[in-house]
Amino acid sequence: MSKAPVITIDGPSGVGKGTVSLYLAKRTGWHLLDSGAIYRVLAFAALTNDMPLDDENKLSELARGLNVSFKNSTVTDRIDVFLKNLDITGQIRAEECGNAASQIARYPQVRQALLTRQREFCRSPGLIADGRDMGTVVFPAAQVKIYLTASPEERLNRRYKQLKEQGFSVNLARLSAEIAGRDNRDQLRKESPLKPATDAVVVDTTNLRIEQVINQIWEIVTTQFPELDA
Ligand code: DC
Repeated sequence: MSKAPVITIDGPSGVGKGTVSLYLAKRTGWHLLDSGAIYRVLAFAALTNDMPLDDENKLSELARGLNVSFKNSTVTDRIDVFLKNLDITGQIRAEECGNAASQIARYPQVRQALLTRQREFCRSPGLIADGRDMGTVVFPAAQVKIYLTASPEERLNRRYKQLKEQGFSVNLARLSAEIAGRDNRDQLRKESPLKPATDAVVVDTTNLRIEQVINQIWEIVTTQFPELDA
């Protein structure tokens, strides 16, 4: 495995991992791994191929051959996601993809098939890794591990706002049930369940504005890497 330093940002849906990770990647100039996007791309590929979401063998075969790539967007602040040459940045954000991603992420063979691909993101000068098992399984030796939490109500509000901003029409009751289902599935699965690493710093963001979350995390990061604050 590469010796480049790693900062992991884990936590449940809608907690703000993506915003925090993108901020850190920009401020540090390090690489960014949005591991959830890889699971979402796999889910998108399975859905568009009418593949049953409970066929572990077929899904892991699809995962091994998955032609996914990320490119810095030239027009927006985000990172664009491609399946082969197809730009699916917007499509994978749909809740349908998030739910399907959570369903297929249960399977050990699927996770195993995506492990090396995720570790390959760890290159100099460093990596910000966003997901569910970054600190526990994918990068257990990471120098900084953050686990973000927030109350279910607050995460529901944040996800609702985010989906609306992205142009999706959202039914609040359905979204609430979907997030609860996803949380349960991600936390209760046998393989790499969502949980804080024993050496993670847990940050409860329920009553914090995004600037406050970012300030807290930057302090944690620069305590470990003071040279980043220069
Ligand atoms: O972070 P996200 O909402 O884009 O992730 C979508 C789903 O992918 C999530 O519900 C569970 C799965 N996932 C995972 O199992 N492990 C990761 N490291 C990232 C995501």
